[in-house]
Amino acid sequence: MTLDKQKLSNQLFKIKDLNIILQESHDPAKQLKKALGPLDLILLGIGAIIGAGIFTVIGTAAAGDLVRPGAGPSIILSFGLTAIACGFAALCYSEFAAMVPISGSAYTYSYATFGELIAWIIGWDLMLEYTVANIAVAISWSGYFTEFLRGFGIQLPPWASIDFRSAFQGFEKASMLLSQGMTFEQLNPGLQKAWFAVHNAPHLFGMPLILNIPAFLIVAMITTLLVIGIKESARFTSVMVAIKLLVLTFFVAVGLFYVKPENWSPFAPNGFAGIKTGAAIVFFAYIGFDAVSTVAEETKNPKRDLPIGILGSLAICTVIYIIVSAVFTGLVPFSILKDTLASQKAEALSFAMKHINLHWATGIVAAGAVVAQTAVLLVMQLGQSRIFFSMSRDGLLPPVFSKVHPKFKTPYITTIATGLFVALTASFSNIDEMVDLTNIGTLFAFVLVCFGVVILRVKEPHRHRTFKVPLNPVIPLLGVSTCIFLMTGLPTITWIRFVVWLLIGFVVYFFYSMKHSLLRKTQSLPHKT
Ligand code: ALA
Repeated sequence: MTLDKQKLSNQLFKIKDLNIILQESHDPAKQLKKALGPLDLILLGIGAIIGAGIFTVIGTAAAGDLVRPGAGPSIILSFGLTAIACGFAALCYSEFAAMVPISGSAYTYSYATFGELIAWIIGWDLMLEYTVANIAVAISWSGYFTEFLRGFGIQLPPWASIDFRSAFQGFEKASMLLSQGMTFEQLNPGLQKAWFAVHNAPHLFGMPLILNIPAFLIVAMITTLLVIGIKESARFTSVMVAIKLLVLTFFVAVGLFYVKPENWSPFAPNGFAGIKTGAAIVFFAYIGFDAVSTVAEETKNPKRDLPIGILGSLAICTVIYIIVSAVFTGLVPFSILKDTLASQKAEALSFAMKHINLHWATGIVAAGAVVAQTAVLLVMQLGQSRIFFSMSRDGLLPPVFSKVHPKFKTPYITTIATGLFVALTASFSNIDEMVDLTNIGTLFAFVLVCFGVVILRVKEPHRHRTFKVPLNPVIPLLGVSTCIFLMTGLPTITWIRFVVWLLIGFVVYFFYSMKHSLLRKTQSLPHKT
């Protein structure tokens, strides 16, 4: 290697000292308000975890779609398998979060272990987890909200409650089926909606105006709330968490009376392939426990409370998911799931209630789903703005992203920027694509966090750790391998999109972040003697 190449490589992989990271967070001008305790964190975790995954994505995972086989009743095993992978990752997150209680989460941990380039890539990658996940959740929220309004006889115009890609794809399919002699009444409700959306859309400059307006509006509302303040947001989250737990309990309690054990057979209609792809997609349902680590700087006693928040919320949600998925698949036989959910994209849990003719219960489930997903939107957007905040503090993003509001003490500019991006994209994107992309990005972040634990134990063996992953390096390495295994269950197109996303990240890094990195600037200052 020539000297220049050596120098560049040293800089790219320059590690940020953990002591410096901890010290910087004490800068009073860039401090967030410390208001959260252990219960707040568990609630925040459940707030981020239970959402579109269990209310909507479970349908695609159980039924399958064009790019993957369905798991059928063995979705219960998919949930179990994913919980194991997440458990390993949660232990690793807990060790890091308690040791480095900084709002940047995996981004900050990588800066301390792998160096700047990988840290940047992780920060960039985490946008897939937080921002893209919220796009998917906002779309799912809109589906349930529309269903909820329908219960009161309010029908939103189809062009205002669907994204244009789904509308045009559905319209094309409907037109084809109609030209083959099918009657309009024979089309499933999803295709009818798409057909109406394209047909009745108003036009702007000759273009049909089709957008998911409820998805846009909910994100705008969440953004406003987040700008106002963290404690207020946490309080709002607790109420929503209570409601979502009640609604899922209701689904299980009512559903149990209608479960038919014969629906659990065949248990795994597509064998292990179905279980694996099911696990890769229901992973979405677990995302969020790690979001607890992004509010580290707002936690009163982070060293004790972060592990409690991360592991506690994951454990509670795992139990809930396994019970709900058992009831769900006990209510609707796989043959019906396969033919209905995969094509209709119905809201899964409401669909189960409709299937057993409990139409009154559909509204309750839809209302619960709306509340549950509102909480997810809130916590994930909170997480994203905290990560941008940390990246900006390090100079990898423009300084405006770490500006704290003088009165509310929240990173308001990054909150508003994230909100705008999510709201606009959600109004015209397709949910399944967003879910897959979120999953691959998050799994990649988990892999690096698990690996990071092993590296840091070697590099800084004496650093004080209030929480330690047991059986190191076995557990972290099991985390790495199970997450990679889940990544391989995602469709090829998702891998392509992921690689393209990372390449764009490299371009931004080399054209902006590398030049503005504070770590680099302090390095190039003459050394004091
Ligand atoms: N786990 C979150 C959800 O299911 C992202 O909505």
